[in-house]
Amino acid sequence: MLAPPPPRYFAHRGGGTLAPENTLAGIRLAARLGYRAVEFDVMLSGSGTPVLIHDETLERTTNGSGAVATTDDAALFALDAGGEPPPRFAQAVRLCGEFGLLANVEVKPASGFERQTAQRVAAEVRADWLASPLLFSSFSRTALQVLQAEIPDLPRAWLLAALPDDWRAEARRLGVVALHLDLALVTPALVRECAGLGLAVRAYTLQTPALADYLFGIGVAGVFVDPLDRFLPQALADRSAIG
Ligand code: G3P
Ligand code: MG
Repeated sequence: MLAPPPPRYFAHRGGGTLAPENTLAGIRLAARLGYRAVEFDVMLSGSGTPVLIHDETLERTTNGSGAVATTDDAALFALDAGGEPPPRFAQAVRLCGEFGLLANVEVKPASGFERQTAQRVAAEVRADWLASPLLFSSFSRTALQVLQAEIPDLPRAWLLAALPDDWRAEARRLGVVALHLDLALVTPALVRECAGLGLAVRAYTLQTPALADYLFGIGVAGVFVDPLDRFLPQALADRSAIG
């Protein structure tokens, strides 16, 4: 049997805008709707535990306050992040495994914790060889370099909100298989150039299905989407493409 094509639609921050972001409930919702891939953000707690959260501070997505990096596990896991505590990275990956979801783990270190965050994430992956297929990504070159050294066999993508002059050489040095680009950066010429360099391109963050159709038409390999329901016909068609 042919290997299934990789998913093209990634539910952003777990359940996109249909669930509290970076929660297990969001991941469950994405799976229930028929998505085959989810993206979520991982940062270290003050105790050094990798947890799902986007911001360096707790206020926007939990009922807590202060910096994630200075909040220990006892305090962090007592918080409400939308009907549940902030999930541990390992819980989220295991859940993805149960649902057969590809997990795009965005390593999102608090400033100054780049090396440590990637090291702890890699250590958990090595300790558990977590069941789900994993794709790592990060805006942090340091984090990507650590992942390359620690878990070299697992694929990495470089997240970019702007294209630095040295992106070609850096992509090669970091051994990434893809660029995950802000939508505003994606042009047909850039996607072609990346293809020539052996790099897939994925784009974040989409709100409208028509844009996804355009992006796939110019060779983009995947998209991160927020309103999961609006992309449903396409995301389900993507699923049925399994060979
Ligand atoms: O990984 C794609 C996207 O999640 C990057 O931006 O800020 O939503 O983590 P952000
Ligand atoms: Mg993210």
